[in-house]
Amino acid sequence: MELELRGIRKEFPGVVANDDVSLRVRSGETVALLGENGAGKTTLMNILYGLYTATAGTVLIDGEEVVFHSPSDAIKAGIGMVHQHFMLVPVFTVAENAVLGDEPTERLGWLDKRRARKAVRDISERYGLNVDPDAITEDLPVGIQQRVEIIKVLMREADFVVFDEPTSVLTPTEVDGFFEIVNTLKAGGKGIVFISHKLGEALEIADRIVIMRRGRTVAEVLPSEVTEEQLAELMVGRPVDLVVDKGRAQPKETILAVNSLSVLDDRNRRVVDGVSFEIRSGEIVGIAGVQGNGQTELVESLTGLRPSITGTVFLNGEDITTKSPRAIHKLAVAHVPEDRQRSGLVLPFTVTENIVLDSYYEDPISKGIQMDWSAARERAERLVEEYDVRTPGTEVLVSTLSGGNQQKVIVAREFDRDVRLVIASQPTRGIDVGSIEYIHSRIVEERDQGAAVLIVSSELDEIRALSDRILVMYGGRISGEFPGTASPTEIGLAMLGSTSEAEAS
Ligand SMILES: Nc1ncnc2c1ncn2[C@@H]1O[C@H](COP(=O)(O)OP(=O)(O)OP(=O)(O)O)[C@@H](O)[C@H]1O
Ligand SMILES: [Mg+2]
Repeated sequence: MELELRGIRKEFPGVVANDDVSLRVRSGETVALLGENGAGKTTLMNILYGLYTATAGTVLIDGEEVVFHSPSDAIKAGIGMVHQHFMLVPVFTVAENAVLGDEPTERLGWLDKRRARKAVRDISERYGLNVDPDAITEDLPVGIQQRVEIIKVLMREADFVVFDEPTSVLTPTEVDGFFEIVNTLKAGGKGIVFISHKLGEALEIADRIVIMRRGRTVAEVLPSEVTEEQLAELMVGRPVDLVVDKGRAQPKETILAVNSLSVLDDRNRRVVDGVSFEIRSGEIVGIAGVQGNGQTELVESLTGLRPSITGTVFLNGEDITTKSPRAIHKLAVAHVPEDRQRSGLVLPFTVTENIVLDSYYEDPISKGIQMDWSAARERAERLVEEYDVRTPGTEVLVSTLSGGNQQKVIVAREFDRDVRLVIASQPTRGIDVGSIEYIHSRIVEERDQGAAVLIVSSELDEIRALSDRILVMYGGRISGEFPGTASPTEIGLAMLGSTSEAEAS
């Protein structure tokens, strides 16, 4: 079978998101779709999935034009999509989620449930997915939840499956497992579209790579004929330095001192267990670790979002252990949160409003009790320019920006202040290589201006590229401390809980 998008155009107010884009996917092949933030990848896939109507252009399956008015039309035609933000109900079982939204023609009695469980088990076996139909979804690791989404797609008998940035939330082991699944799907005759900002992944998994820039397809290459550097240049339109350029750290006085900190998660498990460390002015400390080892709760506690049960946190000698998020923020702490849509942005607000979100009570944006909107807009316009946020303007809702551009808004807002401490979780998740280069250079600049910087990332490459010192978290504790120059193998061992390496260093 062959799926074809031909001459697709999509206009939004002030933007042409897709401009005469064509793309073909055949059964049994994986096409990687790459492109900078805002290039139009998600828009194109949303058109294919019946979520958006194209301004012009057609979709064809085996040469026959098809018209989708909704996702259910697309599903009927054999198109499946796994979105980046999963659409699962956390308290439902896997089987319940798998049939959800499938417009049950019968009552949802125990018989249907039994059928759903069997279908999940069959598909799980056939594709080696290893998913228990009776498991409660929220208890499953992210990688398995993603498999539930895949099962949903397969139960609807998709011939073509679109994955929009499927790997950004996965651990390296989960990525390997995911690639195996993709290859099994491909071998089973599915056609795959794979969107990612990780160029190495595209080179590894794709049969063909299609590159978009500013709403158009600008190149199509085979993985065997390009390097990561060449891909980066094709995407961004200029050479990109994939290595962070930074001088030696000059650590000075201690800014952040964490002592014997313990924190509970939402289910009262002690997921941070007696953690102690310090960060000095002028150094970047990276926390590496497989996600789910307490990093999230540690950062929430440091930024005032989650109480601790033992221990203390001092900032510049001041006890901030029980302070509120706003009080901590006012002490010149920048925070780039892990979940941008939940805690970083107010989606129904404009770009300008989001940029002044925390500073509306500060000069020069606040003039007494009045907001100075023209100052706010000026700041927003400057930051949009500086951080290359692709948006038709600063007065559009931030929810209409592409995923990566939303992330840039947060980073810009947080870094555009005089800060003593930067806490950044997954700072470049979903961001294209060109903008990663810029954000990394800004992080190094903050360090060189004397800030203490804490980076939490599940990307070992990012941790190693930025950090002057690396702490590894495992099972709620610091399982190792390494210089920034340590090898991935050494760090990797500590990430799996081996402490011998750490003691040796
Ligand atoms: N619902 C919408 N309303 C208005 N503009 C939109 C909407 N959806 C997307 N856009 C605009 O269309 C352009 C393309 O966005 P799209 O989400 O397709 O980019 P992308 O290539 O997926 O980027 P990213 O890598 O950051 O996810 C952007 O300029 C974005 O602001
Ligand atoms: Mg996108």
